[in-house]
Amino acid sequence: KYWEVNNEEAATDHPVIQAAGRALKQEEVIAFPTETVYGLGGDATSDRAVKKIFAAKGRPQDNPLIVHIGKKEQVETLVTEIPDMAQTFMDAFWPGPLTLILKSNGTCAKGVTAGLSTIGIRMPDHPVALALLQASGVPVAAPSANRSGRPSPTSAAHVQEDLSGKIYGILDGGTTGVGLESTVVDCTGEVPVILRPGGITKEDLEQIVPEVRLDPALKDKKEKPKSPGMKYTHYAPKAPLWLINGDLEFFQQKIDELRTEGKKVGVMTSKESAERLNAPILKTCGSRSHLSSVAAELYHTLRSFDSEQVDVILGESFPKKGIGVAIMNRLEKASTRIIEP
Ligand code: TXA
Ligand code: MG
Repeated sequence: KYWEVNNEEAATDHPVIQAAGRALKQEEVIAFPTETVYGLGGDATSDRAVKKIFAAKGRPQDNPLIVHIGKKEQVETLVTEIPDMAQTFMDAFWPGPLTLILKSNGTCAKGVTAGLSTIGIRMPDHPVALALLQASGVPVAAPSANRSGRPSPTSAAHVQEDLSGKIYGILDGGTTGVGLESTVVDCTGEVPVILRPGGITKEDLEQIVPEVRLDPALKDKKEKPKSPGMKYTHYAPKAPLWLINGDLEFFQQKIDELRTEGKKVGVMTSKESAERLNAPILKTCGSRSHLSSVAAELYHTLRSFDSEQVDVILGESFPKKGIGVAIMNRLEKASTRIIEP
């Protein structure tokens, strides 16, 4: 099934939302838009639906899913307790791109938590997602709607590229906003710990609570990540991505060197850098002065190299400030090499 819904018309009684909600209740899996990326949703309490999600994505069984809810009160039905910090975050940032890791009460199907005692929950800030979640009435497990390892989908077309024929339906609500997945914060300890950087930054969280830590694995590759998904290769386009960590002169030198070797080179930069570089295949990805625009366009730009048959993609690095932390986290995971002077 392919359904289109206008964001302005999204409501629980909209016929398309009703049909998609029924599909979820019948243990089918469907892709739907959120403010971050498209999710592949299934009833989180159904073993059958959860198995379908893992199968369609080709996802490793040990990587748990995020559960999406349409009303804040639904959290209580999924966890053993709501610590104060979690309540504070929910009040400040939900609906929004923030996933809270809490202690699971076992209501969801086993596969959702992948054997962990904790569960990731979020309430997305998107009219289509909220209407669908409310219409279905069930908690909805939804990883990003890409084949495992690929860049997350920011449009229904991306979902089709990866999952066409493998899922029951796609709910097309246009292009997503943030463009990167939600921030994942572990709220089961004394101090909140960011396991995956995302749309809500460390600075945002620190406006609300005195201290927030970063999972050591985010800084040191030798540490074992607490978020199982963070250990896999991710977000990768088909050609190898090499990150350039140097000035524009160095960047140009690398482009020229590789071209002299006879390589077909793709280049991905901000619009500011694009004006100062020379390369036959150059795609711009947002503006350095608005890093949120880089985030919004990142996955689409990475995917757009797939049809160019390039041998290698050279990508620009960004400052690790604000949402830049999340951008660089995804770029480093997607890349096979980091090239420095
Ligand atoms: O923005 C998003 O979060 C999107 C949209 C669809 O909501 N979803 C998403 O899901 O990015 P996924 O499955 O691609 O990423 C979920 C991440 C993985 O890194 C996973 O390991 C982590 O969340 N995660 C889920 N449950 C966890 C848990 N109980 N403990 C630690 N990490 C968990
Ligand atoms: Mg994902």
